[in-house]
Amino acid sequence: MAEFLIKGGKALKGEIEVMGAKNSVLKVFPASLLFSNTLRIKNVPLIEDVFRMIDLLEDIGSKVGKTGENTFEINSGKVSGSKLRKDIAERFRGSIVLAGPLLARSGKVIFPHPGGCVIGKRPIDIFLDGWTKMGAKVKENGEGYEITAARLRGADFTFKNISVTGTETLMMTAVLAEGKTILRNAALEPEIESLAKFLNESGAKIKGAGSPTIEIEGTRGKLLRAKNPFEVIPDRIEAGTFLILGAAMGKVKVKNCNPEHITTVIATLRSAGVKLEVGKDWVAAEKPKTLLASDMKTREYPGFATDLQAPFTVLMTQAKGDSMIFETVFEGRLNYVEELVRMGASITPLDQHRILVQGPTILRGREIESPDLRAGLAFVIAALVAKGESTIKNIYQIDRGYEKIEERLKKLGADIKRK
Ligand code: EPU
Repeated sequence: MAEFLIKGGKALKGEIEVMGAKNSVLKVFPASLLFSNTLRIKNVPLIEDVFRMIDLLEDIGSKVGKTGENTFEINSGKVSGSKLRKDIAERFRGSIVLAGPLLARSGKVIFPHPGGCVIGKRPIDIFLDGWTKMGAKVKENGEGYEITAARLRGADFTFKNISVTGTETLMMTAVLAEGKTILRNAALEPEIESLAKFLNESGAKIKGAGSPTIEIEGTRGKLLRAKNPFEVIPDRIEAGTFLILGAAMGKVKVKNCNPEHITTVIATLRSAGVKLEVGKDWVAAEKPKTLLASDMKTREYPGFATDLQAPFTVLMTQAKGDSMIFETVFEGRLNYVEELVRMGASITPLDQHRILVQGPTILRGREIESPDLRAGLAFVIAALVAKGESTIKNIYQIDRGYEKIEERLKKLGADIKRK
């Protein structure tokens, strides 16, 4: 299995480009099932989760072609299957998003419990409740789920917890349903708004995406027709991660991002004393003389993203004072902390969701293994900060979400090798 070898302690300086958002592509590829014609999708990152999504789509009969460096065309006009391949769907949580459009298109979907990493194996009760409310029948056995619906009806559905993929999946399911669906307490992420805008340009009737109440007037099974290509929005998690890297290690200009999507990260870094410059589509972060401790609480968008929690914790190991990090979105997303402590960080778990980071501490290189993709990249940052050499194992987790990360980091001066 591939590994990264990292020699830490070198200052990083320069520019880094943000790729298209993983969590947008993983929704727009499945959306192809709502269309009768070919979708052209630009700015697609070449990452493992996207390849797995393509594998799943091809397995049910979609035609997917790469027509440019980061451009794909996809036609799901001849989809025949309704079963998601177990061995692939189990490998990443994003597979669940395919179930909604497939159910809407073919009246049936069979899939295993979606997985990926430790945190990927979270519940899917909200999806099941939503489909049931729309008239579908849910059967569950040891192997997974079978959802059937001769006819999907619009429904008034309130999310008991805010769910990003839940919002996207039910929004897509409702597009082909009969009548009006109202989704309340919906997630607000920019990827949702971007998807809705594209679906609307192609004939869907969605109002309010990006707000807590979304209304969808269903087409009664009439498929959409794409007129324009879909341009994937910049990955706000990559952008935030690279700013954290700049704040920890030198000066990094993050290009091709949307600063409006990362205002909370910018505000939090400013409170830690990081020097930031904000342009129209770029942000630069510079390590201050003294990095200050700063408390942080993860929240649904527009709050501080849970996907940036681990990288921010690494940054706080270098800050002067005590920072309390509070993970409110997921269970088990502090499971990387022990490895940081072994590297020399002073981190005390307060309870299942909160840790106290006492800084600054000197980190020392070690052999570490990524539990998930975001913690994986946090370990890369920790290894770059650390004295000495680190080996990061299980980098499939990192490749799931970041295209050629080592090549991009090398351009900033990082000493990182894939082995
Ligand atoms: N939840 C339930 N039941 C459900 C669905 C969710 O209890 O049926 C709970 C989860 O266990 C969690 C909370 O609700 O505690 C929020 O989860 P959400 O459903 O919003 O997460 P998600 O949609 O599965 C997406 C991203 C994640 C990102 C979260 C939060 C994709 C493919 N995934 O997950 O991205 O962390 O939103 O912003 O869009 C990542 O990219 O590394 C990643 C994990």
